[in-house]
Amino acid sequence: MALLEVRNVSKHFGGLKAVDEVTLSIEKGQIYGLIGPNGAGKSTLFNCVAGTYAPTMGAIIYDGRDVTGWKPWDICKLRIGRTFQIVKPFQSRTVLYNATVGAFIRTSNRSEAEDRAMEVLRKFHLGDKAGVLAKNLTIADRKRLEMARAMATDPEMLLMDECMAGLRPNEVDETLDVLREIRSQGVTIFMIEHIMRAIMSVSDKITVIQFGRKIMDGTPGEVANDERVIKAYLGESYGAGGDGNVTA
Ligand SMILES: Nc1ncnc2c1ncn2[C@@H]1O[C@H](COP(=O)(O)OP(=O)(O)OP(=O)(O)O)[C@@H](O)[C@H]1O
Ligand SMILES: [Mg+2]
Repeated sequence: MALLEVRNVSKHFGGLKAVDEVTLSIEKGQIYGLIGPNGAGKSTLFNCVAGTYAPTMGAIIYDGRDVTGWKPWDICKLRIGRTFQIVKPFQSRTVLYNATVGAFIRTSNRSEAEDRAMEVLRKFHLGDKAGVLAKNLTIADRKRLEMARAMATDPEMLLMDECMAGLRPNEVDETLDVLREIRSQGVTIFMIEHIMRAIMSVSDKITVIQFGRKIMDGTPGEVANDERVIKAYLGESYGAGGDGNVTA
């Protein structure tokens, strides 16, 4: 049985069909990619799964349960964690404080929450920055903090929205290693990413969307060689010496 099923989901903003009848299915333990041009509806689809938006139509089924229209805090309690494309940590609070906020969804005991937060901060190489104020972090560290805060909620599925944007190639590699480790511990990952070398190397399966509609889904190899995907998103130079990053 699929862990997450997105069934014919649409989200309209007035006349704009930001997500238009998208269906996809993610198995437990997969790393599943979602790609497409800017404005394709990727973050909106995440927001429908995470409860930020109720879909206009369609259903979100998690672990066999219809969770369509559930509120974000209930989705989080269900153990779906998420990061935001635009990170907004509590700037005047420490890295530890920010990560502990996530851990409080599972316990009201402060020291337990802080222990959990420290554990994930170490995993994301932020252990030695626990006492630093969020506003003093580099972009890369802010991205790491965003992932750590989401992981501190102890999710069994993690939605990651462009967590590697702005990272240097070695930082991307480091993040990929952490993702593989998280997956090996049983967390299913659903990720949006424009850095093709990253998403193509870790994903088991990828869905491509454009103008809110699904173009196709398949393995990274199938997606990379699909004429429709090359035309809509990857461009002719992809795989022919391009930098593997299609961000506009
Ligand atoms: N709250 C909103 N109200 C109105 N329109 C919105 C809203 N959120 C998103 N949109 C529009 O929906 C479309 C899809 O946006 P979305 O942010 O989901 O794209 P995306 O695929 O995540 O793009 P990017 O790669 O640039 O992050 C865009 O046209 C966007 O302007
Ligand atoms: Mg987006």
